[in-house]
Amino acid sequence: MTIPQKVHDRVAELREEIDYHNYQYYVLDHPQIPDSEYDKLMRELQRFEREYPDLVTPESPTQRVGGKPLDGFDEVTHRVPMLSLDNAFSEEDMQEFDRRVRDRLKTTDTIQYTAEPKLDGLAINIRYEKGVLVQAATRGDGATGEDVTQNVRTISSVPLRLLGDDYPDVLEVRGEIYMPRAGFEAMNERARQAGEKTFANPRNAAAGSLRQLDSKITATRPLAMFCYGFGEISNGPLGDKQSVSMNKLTSWGLRISPELQVVEGAEGCIEYYRRMADRRESLDYDIDGVVFKVDNLDLQNELGFVSRAPRWAIAQKFPAQEEITKLLAIDVQVGRTGALTPVARLEPVNVAGVTVTNATLHNEDEIRRKDIRIGDTVIIRRAGDVIPQVVQVVLNKRGDDVEKFEMPTACPVCGSDVIRDEDEAVIRCSGGLYCPAQRKEAIKHFAARRALDIEGLGDKLVDQLVERELISTPADLFRLDVETVAGLERMGQKSAENLIDALKQSKKTTLSRFLFSLGIREVGEATAQALALYYGDIQTLESADTESLQEVPDVGPIVAEHIVTFFNQGHNLEVIRQLIDAGVEWESPKPKTEGEQPLVGKTVVLTGTLSRSRQEIKEELQALGAKVAGSVSSKTDFLVAGADAGSKLTKAEKLGVEVLDEAGLNELLSQ
Ligand code: IVH
Repeated sequence: MTIPQKVHDRVAELREEIDYHNYQYYVLDHPQIPDSEYDKLMRELQRFEREYPDLVTPESPTQRVGGKPLDGFDEVTHRVPMLSLDNAFSEEDMQEFDRRVRDRLKTTDTIQYTAEPKLDGLAINIRYEKGVLVQAATRGDGATGEDVTQNVRTISSVPLRLLGDDYPDVLEVRGEIYMPRAGFEAMNERARQAGEKTFANPRNAAAGSLRQLDSKITATRPLAMFCYGFGEISNGPLGDKQSVSMNKLTSWGLRISPELQVVEGAEGCIEYYRRMADRRESLDYDIDGVVFKVDNLDLQNELGFVSRAPRWAIAQKFPAQEEITKLLAIDVQVGRTGALTPVARLEPVNVAGVTVTNATLHNEDEIRRKDIRIGDTVIIRRAGDVIPQVVQVVLNKRGDDVEKFEMPTACPVCGSDVIRDEDEAVIRCSGGLYCPAQRKEAIKHFAARRALDIEGLGDKLVDQLVERELISTPADLFRLDVETVAGLERMGQKSAENLIDALKQSKKTTLSRFLFSLGIREVGEATAQALALYYGDIQTLESADTESLQEVPDVGPIVAEHIVTFFNQGHNLEVIRQLIDAGVEWESPKPKTEGEQPLVGKTVVLTGTLSRSRQEIKEELQALGAKVAGSVSSKTDFLVAGADAGSKLTKAEKLGVEVLDEAGLNELLSQ
């Protein structure tokens, strides 16, 4: 059959493009396009090669997978090649797969499949000899990979020695190394703060971390692993079924997916797929589909494999979490703490079922580092409940009309100067609560569900109230009346009454919610709770210094500094007073009565060697209402000095703090 020239040309073009992207993805760990785009190119090429089999050549990208090892790592030849998986993109593809399996096996019986998530990480082969980890290698091109033993040894979910004693002499397990989303986000945030390069997605971060030449760096990265299969095993398979063999691994301390299940036939597979698709967002790691494997190992052997993939397994893919779109503009938003955040306005694009029109660009440095320009074609990533992000620019799609972005030198909302903290990449509006944007955000935060939980006070309503200058602080909320609220857009008599009612209800709160609602920088729910427990009331907290604050679990020097700064602002104290006057109240976490707790408001520091444990003394003092601090300051009331007291004693004497010996302490405790 003659092949049209057009087809020849397109096939050549596709191969060149795929080869280029393979190199970017496998060798450089720096993909230029989302997987979904890559898959499209590959499928197009596969279609041509199916239609014109004469076009297939050994070097076609459809005939090989992945790249070559980089310099720096030893090569490892896999004793059993590491295969790839065929993909199903629809339920029909899945049914078709099940039909093929049964046809080949010449059976009409229902086939049992193991079902598990397809993790989006990197494949690894780990070899145990006599139960000891001796080698770990990446997949590479499936035949040879890279020796990353030192790096894999740093991953806590990979046992260095197997548990028990019934493992085979040689056991090669295969699985996926990945980075959990939470760890990935935290790592990127740290890098952003430090002005360093961030990773595009957890897969790249895992790849970059695993292929570090310095394993000390790998050790700091939050990598994890799930096993999903086997390489060489001495004395044959571990059981007669995939699922049985997998469960054996658990008994030796190896990790398998908690989602692993055995399902019945195509129907069971499709059900499983739908269930996982629903749960995808809530998992702490990225998955790009689910994998089904014929459970019976004899049947697996009977089915065998074609060039690169087993006939007994298939991956059913989910919609991609990354898509390409156009960056139309960059707006700058002002947050609650005045931070200016550039936000990308996008040509609407559907990413895994949700239409995305905005994405965060984090800060100016990040835009520079990624060289993002207005008008660029960009890759957007949306995963879990994290705000969509601009991952990178597709450089070869950049036109001549792109525009560089400049961060404004004045607050775009209130015109105040912007300031950049020395050790931060963030630029802030200096306007404080003068800035309507900061006011709005502060009030929204105050009203949020986890703060004062004012039902019915949505973002739009706060915007209106601030814009009409009906409120400018959270305390003003409690001065609103039904009439005023009813006159606002989209409000009526009933909803106004409801809001006033909700405001009344919100006044009964807890100290930790109240502290959280104030929006002190870096004081999240957990810290607010710790502060509430430690101080018990707001007055003591208001006068705490940075040293005593650091006694509170969860509070470090930076948070302590933010808290002190917050309570040093007269206007903040004024708002707190107004809120309390308006009737905001809470039950004290530790109810105290004068008689039972004679030491309320007293701060005691312990130093030197005492006859009883510090913990014991501390608890007794606390039971009497005293606060026990770790360092001496002008706010310290008593220093209890045991034998060999050092610098704390000197400091107390200098500050004129009353010093007690153990007899003095006992007197204090007997009050
Ligand atoms: S089984 C012979 N199971 O997907 C079958 N692979 O496209 C070999 N992957 O290289 C793979 N999760 O990196 C299998 N539960 C899973 C998987 C999984 C992720 C990756 C793996 C492999 C690629 C194949």
